[in-house]
Amino acid sequence: MLRTLVALATAAASLVAAAPVERAGAWDLSADVVATWHPMAHYAAAVYCGPDSVRSWSCGVHCDHTTKLNILATGGDNGYNPYYYVGTNGSHVIVSIAGTNPLSPDSIGIDIDFDLVNVDTKYFPGSSGVQVHHGFYGAFTRMAGAIGPAVQNAVKGGTKQVLVTGHSLGGAQGHLVATYLQKLLGSSATVSARVFASPRVGNPAWANYVDATLGNRAQHMVNNNDVVPQLPPGDWGFQQSSNEIWITRPGGTQYRACPGQENYSCQDGLGIVGAVVNFALYLDAAVHLGPYVGVWISSLECEY
Ligand SMILES: *[C@@H]1O[C@H](CO)[C@@H](O)[C@H](O)[C@H]1NC(C)=O
Ligand SMILES: *[C@@H]1O[C@H](CO)[C@@H](O)[C@H](O)[C@H]1NC(C)=O
Repeated sequence: MLRTLVALATAAASLVAAAPVERAGAWDLSADVVATWHPMAHYAAAVYCGPDSVRSWSCGVHCDHTTKLNILATGGDNGYNPYYYVGTNGSHVIVSIAGTNPLSPDSIGIDIDFDLVNVDTKYFPGSSGVQVHHGFYGAFTRMAGAIGPAVQNAVKGGTKQVLVTGHSLGGAQGHLVATYLQKLLGSSATVSARVFASPRVGNPAWANYVDATLGNRAQHMVNNNDVVPQLPPGDWGFQQSSNEIWITRPGGTQYRACPGQENYSCQDGLGIVGAVVNFALYLDAAVHLGPYVGVWISSLECEY
């Protein structure tokens, strides 16, 4: 932390001059590809509304703007156990996991429990050397036993495309759940992760494990200067897996594809220092919540 603070103080001035400029580039996602993220943002937001409204698919704008899902499993308590659901829209299984509840000390406790721990090969076979964030891993192990069998049944029933989403802490869970599900299901299904504002989940061996398991099917969207994807810091031993999709201005409409892990053409180019400086420049605490493809991801628009 001290190192981070010193870096902050020394680098702030130079970064003020390097505020991002929006210009179209070869790595921008096309409008068609951006549009495929739109339902994912609503699915990632709907889970914040809680299991009851998700079961009846009556959660306000997020349910109104997406195909009604047939809910196969839901759970969580919005505290020690994040909310989640498993549903199907006919052709795809959708899994969504909620982020931190800032009003719950148990929920915040998950985020700040950031020791790196080994993972169990019963979830992640062949994962020697792989370590992940203790709090994230604990929350994952508490939901995997319900999510795994629900998805397995849907796949046996013929729905072989699985999409995992989530925001913030739920984005970290999305990386863990999608990687676990692909290992569990093997060649019987194709699992993809489309998550938002995910913090770093594990060490470089974890990032490689995600990449080897999901390849380009694991993608995480980052809203410009949102500080959460820069946490925990890389110098604490954490590394993002590949395929950031970076929104080049806070809440902007240009989505840049960023191959590779920790790609300095994208958010890492701001760095944790730049993220904080930009945050101060824009004074926009909401940047973590969106908008992502026009959608704010939070419980604020839920209707019960
Ligand atoms: C289910 O959702 C996925 C992801 O948005 C979409 O590609 C697919 O067309 C949907 N299927 C149906 C039957 O609506
Ligand atoms: C990072 O992303 C840019 C485009 O946004 C791309 O040109 C570059 O090759 C990527 N770097 C790596 C190491 O993949």
